[in-house]
Amino acid sequence: MNQNLHTNTAKAVNTSAPVMLVTGGAKRIGAAIVKTAHQQGYRVIIHCHQSEQEANALAAQLNNSRKDSATVLVADLSVVNEPSNLSNFASNIIDSFGQLDVLVHNASRFYPSPLGHIDHSQWDELFLTNAKAPLLLSQGLLPHLKQTQGCIISLLDIHAHGRPFNNYTVYSMAKAAHRMMVQSLALEMAPDVRVNGVSPGVNILPEADSDQALDVHQQKSIVDSIPMQRIGKPDEIAHSVLYLAQASYVTGEIITVDGGRSLTLAGGI
Ligand SMILES: NC(=O)c1ccc[n+]([C@@H]2O[C@H](COP(=O)([O-])OP(=O)(O)OC[C@H]3O[C@@H](n4cnc5c(N)ncnc54)[C@H](OP(=O)(O)O)[C@@H]3O)[C@@H](O)[C@H]2O)c1
Repeated sequence: MNQNLHTNTAKAVNTSAPVMLVTGGAKRIGAAIVKTAHQQGYRVIIHCHQSEQEANALAAQLNNSRKDSATVLVADLSVVNEPSNLSNFASNIIDSFGQLDVLVHNASRFYPSPLGHIDHSQWDELFLTNAKAPLLLSQGLLPHLKQTQGCIISLLDIHAHGRPFNNYTVYSMAKAAHRMMVQSLALEMAPDVRVNGVSPGVNILPEADSDQALDVHQQKSIVDSIPMQRIGKPDEIAHSVLYLAQASYVTGEIITVDGGRSLTLAGGI
């Protein structure tokens, strides 16, 4: 078995509840989607890479409130680069609960790539997480999603279309590719599988101890640019994801959840 790929809980008992997989589901927006889906009766597969501890703690909390309702799957999304690793990953996903109803592409890398300093590793990493893995995972899981007449929901970005994020060219390009994937797969996968997206504005700030942390002045200037006059909340993204999971006649749709921020952006920030 690929060392970057393993499950942390015993195979869960199959029941009739639908199953949702959230990539990068251990923390932040991903964890909010996992918790909201679980509250609404879903069984959840929490995919993670580095945040195994957080994912296990979340799964334990959810299993405590409802037995055999959450499991953890650990994998670097680079598994999609090798057909046999991708195939093992897809098998592990399906083995978790025996079915898959909703696939949520949430995992992402996000950092600047100023012109003059763009290199291949940034390109590979930003495109892997924000475009390539979502496409190849969707393709790999299609037969299983067809069986459940399931759906795919992608976490996009208001900067994926028409409003590039200054100094984030590679990230913006990757999210733009992902946005087109949503629309293109909505056509190709219909009528069996619906494909939709959610575009956050600023719904949770980068972690304070990360290289992406924003100082108070940067935070204030962001809040000032948002008509709703506040940063969004992860739960507000989760709410739209769960709406799309249940919207049986909606496909190819991308819902913006940004407090009106995209109305005030003329490009750049
Ligand atoms: N935060 C916002 O306000 C905002 C704004 C616009 C768009 N979005 C989009 O909304 C989604 C969630 O945002 P977020 O800020 O909560 O995300 P995030 O914290 O930046 O990333 C989510 C998770 O992605 C996983 N990940 C990254 N690289 C991976 C890899 N190579 N293999 C496997 N997993 C990998 C990480 O899992 P581990 O920790 O387990 O390694 C990470 O916790 C993202 O798609 C993001 O682009 C967010």
